[in-house]
Amino acid sequence: MHALSAGDVDLTTILADMTLPNPVMTASGCAAAGRELHQFFDVADLGAVVTKSIMRDPRSGRPTPRMAETPSGMLNSIGLQGPGIDAFLAVDLPWLVRRRARPIVSIAGSTLVEYAELARRVGQSPGVTAVEVNISCPNVENRGLVFACDPYQAAKVISVVRRETPPGVPVLAKLSPDVTSIVTVAESVMEAGATGLTLVNTLLGISIDTESLRPVLGGVTGGLSGPAIRPVALRCVWQVHQAMPEVPVVGVGGIASGQDALEFLLAGASAVQVGTVIFNDPGAPMRVVAELAAELAARGFAKAADAVGFAHRPARLPGDTG
Ligand SMILES: Cc1cc2nc3c(=O)[nH]c(=O)nc-3n(C[C@H](O)[C@H](O)[C@H](O)COP(=O)(O)O)c2cc1C
Repeated sequence: MHALSAGDVDLTTILADMTLPNPVMTASGCAAAGRELHQFFDVADLGAVVTKSIMRDPRSGRPTPRMAETPSGMLNSIGLQGPGIDAFLAVDLPWLVRRRARPIVSIAGSTLVEYAELARRVGQSPGVTAVEVNISCPNVENRGLVFACDPYQAAKVISVVRRETPPGVPVLAKLSPDVTSIVTVAESVMEAGATGLTLVNTLLGISIDTESLRPVLGGVTGGLSGPAIRPVALRCVWQVHQAMPEVPVVGVGGIASGQDALEFLLAGASAVQVGTVIFNDPGAPMRVVAELAAELAARGFAKAADAVGFAHRPARLPGDTG
């Protein structure tokens, strides 16, 4: 038997009714709507492009500064700055569709009515591969508590989005790791009609400037991302796959190499997203595709799908030849 080479590996990914050429996507908010990345590689070569969460109205985001470096990650408090749904549907989405990319449109709202309107308008737009629902937003109708941190509120958003989105368009619920039980929230949104899960959004953090003696970020708290959160994100994927192995999962959090991506597949993710690393290496998503193929080949996986959840299998005992 000859050793596999990277070119022999079948990276085709079937995820919640979507068939993608490979399992690597951009993470929402880390590559806008893909246009800036197109100078580094063809965005149609990615498994999918997940767009920055779009809200109903144009927003200027939170006060500056909005970014802070941490030893192995980044804190951001961008606050969902964006052009609003009208401009997104008129300019950004048609560009991705023309490029033959597979757009997964991330939506975010502060009320159920906003989520419903966004889901309806995005779901009816031609060329949308899936809707990803960012529920890590404050619920203005419930004391500003984040939807994603309450299984009941999280499910309410997903059931509204599912109802308003055409049946053929998959709905991915993107969960927050800042909860006591990720499995409880995962079960709740799956019951509410999600087709799959994206795990995870940033962790809430804070940084204090010891010169000014005040918080660094204008918004005080921010989302922690990058290598620091990889073990947490991986743990979430692991726990959810263990509890619900049939549920399609997209893993995200600190992925910067093919080896990182392989870890997420082995934990149970069918696909992965690449986020923070793009800010210092814009070519990272396609590099991860190539590196993942090489990592799979080196371990004898002829198909990426064969690696999904592999780490949950009992280890072979010494002398076990079966
Ligand atoms: C600058 C920045 C902006 C982000 N914006 C969004 C967003 O609009 N919607 C969303 O669901 N996640 C957003 N995220 C979270 C990422 O999509 C991702 O879940 C998280 O950063 C973990 O992945 P990473 O460590 O690879 O960046 C953002 C992250 C960063 C760093």
